[in-house]
Formats: sequence, structure tokens, C-alpha cells
Amino acid sequence: MSQPRECASRLSSCVRLLVTLVDDRQPGYTRHATAVARLSRMVGMRVGLDELELEHLRLASLLHDAGSLRLPFPHVGSRWDLPAEERRVWETHPRQGARMAGMLGLPPDVAATILGHHERWDGSGYPDALSEAATPLSARILGVCDVYDSARSGFMDAREVRLSEDEALEHLLCDEVSRFDQTVVGALRDALVDDREIGVLTGMYA
Ligand SMILES: [Fe+2]
Repeated sequence: MSQPRECASRLSSCVRLLVTLVDDRQPGYTRHATAVARLSRMVGMRVGLDELELEHLRLASLLHDAGSLRLPFPHVGSRWDLPAEERRVWETHPRQGARMAGMLGLPPDVAATILGHHERWDGSGYPDALSEAATPLSARILGVCDVYDSARSGFMDAREVRLSEDEALEHLLCDEVSRFDQTVVGALRDALVDDREIGVLTGMYA
């Protein structure tokens, strides 16, 4: 095996290992991260990202919650009910994940995408409360796709409520002061319409 291919193969094994380790703490994470990676690619293509940007977005999608591995408490599956102090710790996971991406030698935009995946358009997100385009486009795509898949699949919802496609899009579209980049949400909506013929998501929300 040539050296660059050997490195790529090792990196890919490291990413798979981290995804598996997160899944041990957050059952269903492997499915969720795979779905987010597929959705992010569909949206990224629609907004004009090139192949390299799409590959970096794929890696960030797979690793977006890897930072949770560095948190001191194991019960992240019930994170919506966390006491204030544990929530504060939980909200460090994007920064921890970005650091881990750096340790793996991944490109800086992978780390920046992970860092920004919980920032929101109206500045209500974390860890830095950035608003609008202060967060990279790739992170805004990842954030929208993360929320969409979580809503559709019930991932991380203690009651495992699963919304329909229309309900999940409504959730992303209808905030009074939008928490999400509406250009990205529109691209997701269009990509989902296209996917009825292409079938990238077939079986994902059966
Ligand atoms: Fe996250």
C-alpha cells in the first residue's frame, strides 16, 4: 500500500473507531452520524460546495459529537434533562470535538465545522453564541442536518418522538426569529424533494 493511501486508510479507521466509541455512550449515534453525513452532502452539493469541502463536511458530520467522549459524565443520552452544571459541561463538546479533530491532523475547516455545529443564526447557540454568517457555512449545514435527523429519528429524545418530513422541516422553518440559516433549510427541503427520485435516504426513516 502506498504511503498516502495507508495514511488515508488509518485515518478512516480512526474515524470509525471514534464513531463506535460515541455510539457506546449514545446508542444510535452511528446511524445518526451516517444520516447526517448523507444529508449534509446533499445540502452541500445544492449550495455549491466543491468535492474537497464536501469530504471535509462528511468527516465533520461523522465526528460532530466525538467531543462528548471527553466529558466527565456518561449519561449524555438524557442531555435535555441535564442539571445546569452538567449542561454547561455538555456545551463544551463542540470545542472538545474540534480539538480532537486537530489531534487527528484533520484540516482546520473540519475542526471549525465541528466547533460551530450548535451555533444558531440568531446567536442563541453555543459555545460562542455566534450569529448569522459568523459561523462557517459548513457548520450551518451540519447544524441543520443534525437537528433534522434528530427530529425525524427521535435520536437523543427520551420519548423517541419521530416527526414526519413536513413536521421536521416546519420545526426548522417556523421560528419567529429563525435559529437556522433559511438558505440552508431551503436547500435541505429541495434536496429532500430530489431524494424521492434519487433514494440516498431510502430506508433511513422507515
Ligand atoms: Fe452536538
